Amino acid sequence: MRIYQAEDYKAMSRRAANIISAQVIYKPNCVLGLATGGTPVGLYQQLVDWYRKGDLSFAETRSVNLDEYLGLSPHHEQSYRYFMQVNLFDHIDIKPENTHVLDGLAKNPEAECAAYNQLIRDLGGIDLQLLGMGHNGHIAFNEPGDDFGLETHLVNLTESTINANQRFFESRDEVPRHALSMGIKNIMNARRILMVVSGEEKADIVCRAFAGPVTKEVPASVLQLHPDVTLVGDRAALHKLAEAGVPVCG
Ligand code: GLP
Repeated sequence: MRIYQAEDYKAMSRRAANIISAQVIYKPNCVLGLATGGTPVGLYQQLVDWYRKGDLSFAETRSVNLDEYLGLSPHHEQSYRYFMQVNLFDHIDIKPENTHVLDGLAKNPEAECAAYNQLIRDLGGIDLQLLGMGHNGHIAFNEPGDDFGLETHLVNLTESTINANQRFFESRDEVPRHALSMGIKNIMNARRILMVVSGEEKADIVCRAFAGPVTKEVPASVLQLHPDVTLVGDRAALHKLAEAGVPVCG
């Protein structure tokens, strides 16, 4: 596992965008696993900037997103499809038919999940999976206690996640209680993983995930078992990890 500490959020975003950019340049038709949340916004802006300058093209790139709220349409401002359009897809040359996000309005969520697993297989697997981390250590919507052997599945969101995501909605009542999410197995099958973390409020959980034991109670800890993980964080998010003696590169 490689851990890069950047000075601040902007530098973290730039470093992470560099890694994604390298992947796209080395393999233009790669499959990118993409993530939502506040943390990747800056790196998406950086990718858009490089695309506009002519340094990067996504014309052959395929993408699969980690998760989607159940019950939200793709046009709902808090849906993850909408997030991806507004923060990345609408501003780059990726072909719309090459972008894949789970359907939050699926009539049969189980069938939607099974089809998504098949889609990932048909695409040849994920070359680089981008991840953020929830305050309780969740990755995608794999919540504490979830089975590491799961593929894409229907999730009951925890109180902690509903509380954390409330800031994006008008009221707590509007936060969906369910989501469709890739499972840990899909994520662990990715050839490479890039995780981004930012801010002091993530420092404790980052430390538990990467300086503590691998446990279902901290889903991100499973990444210790993956052969090719890069963690990029700002100083605020990584300082406790460094203090715990885990080697961190500047
Ligand atoms: C959501 C997403 C996760 C994301 C997490 C952290 O719950 N499903 O994929 O990693 O939020 O978000 P943030 O980056 O805003 O802290």
